[in-house]
Amino acid sequence: METILVTGGAGFIGNCFCKLLLKERPEWKVVNVDSLTYAANPNTIKEELNNPNYKFYKTDIRDREAIYKIFEEEKPNIVVNFAAESHVDRSILDPESFLTTNIIGTEVLMDACRKYGIERYHQVSTDEVYGDLPLDRPDLFFHEDTPLHTSSPYSTSKASADLLVLAYFRTYGLPVTISRCSNNYGPYQFPEKLIPLMIYKANHDQKLPVYGEGINIRDWLYVEDHCRGILAVLEKGRVGEVYNLGGHNERNNLYIVKRILSELNKPESLIEHVADRHGHDQRYAIDPAKANKELGWDPITTFEVGIKKTIEWYLSDKGSAWLDECMKQNQEWLVKNYKNRK
Ligand SMILES: NC(=O)c1ccc[n+]([C@@H]2O[C@H](COP(=O)([O-])OP(=O)(O)OC[C@H]3O[C@@H](n4cnc5c(N)ncnc54)[C@H](O)[C@@H]3O)[C@@H](O)[C@H]2O)c1
Repeated sequence: METILVTGGAGFIGNCFCKLLLKERPEWKVVNVDSLTYAANPNTIKEELNNPNYKFYKTDIRDREAIYKIFEEEKPNIVVNFAAESHVDRSILDPESFLTTNIIGTEVLMDACRKYGIERYHQVSTDEVYGDLPLDRPDLFFHEDTPLHTSSPYSTSKASADLLVLAYFRTYGLPVTISRCSNNYGPYQFPEKLIPLMIYKANHDQKLPVYGEGINIRDWLYVEDHCRGILAVLEKGRVGEVYNLGGHNERNNLYIVKRILSELNKPESLIEHVADRHGHDQRYAIDPAKANKELGWDPITTFEVGIKKTIEWYLSDKGSAWLDECMKQNQEWLVKNYKNRK
């Protein structure tokens, strides 16, 4: 029986990963370690808490003593680190927690792995570590050997963690893997991120704030496809390797916002262009050929299907109650972030 310790398992992607494991690897024990920051709604993990194969620790990954205790108690043989401060705009206003959680937290987890021994440490990273690509070069893509070239405190903290993970492989022989993924969307995403925020606003006939002209391009991947990719890396990936996971699904922000309005039957007059993000990356585009070839991984949810499923979920009784709770949690931030952008 595998015991897998998942950090950040109350967040958007980590929770989806736990759900996937409990469904498709029923013989595995899943231990979720999450400190429940502002980005975690405790109701996200309500159903999992009833599963006998699931255990939750409300613990900060920076707390070395507490993390070592969990390793002693649970003896995980696999660790997957999702826990992170993940919102670029917040990192621009206040970088410190990004550096401590995303870098020092990673160090603490890997030290625990070294001390107690594990078969695999997997770091969940992002395509943002590669910086951005110009809008007028659609022929360019991020490959695993594209140089790291970050823009924001968020992406810099993630790139630093990636380098540390590779250093632990080379220096200590820790059996690590890294996956770098493009933008995710799907249920349970905190509404500071584009898609859930715009669904909420459109559904409440509020203005939809679009940064700049809305021409920045992201490569959108349905969250469950990302999680299947991580599982494939764990089961088939080679240690010491990086795998890019992306959907070949490039859309600009304005397209996404218009698409949401059209699905909800709302007018485009709700769109409001606001001041752009400082240092806003222009285009992200992943080449997932290595993951496809070595792991047999391919996204299975098309954007057409994924966006409909996502919108349906946020409008369902369960999804809209969850979203309302998060919006209450997030009011102060939204005011702070958008007040000087008009
Ligand atoms: N969302 C995306 O589009 C995307 C794309 C590529 C990579 N990623 C990466 O995937 C991972 C998960 O992203 P997400 O969108 O689910 O983020 P999220 O913000 O929804 O969730 C992060 C979770 O980590 C927890 N956490 C934060 N600091 C912690 C700490 N110090 N100790 C313990 N728990 C802590 C939070 O409580 C939250 O539950 C991150 O590492 C992120 O960099 C995200």
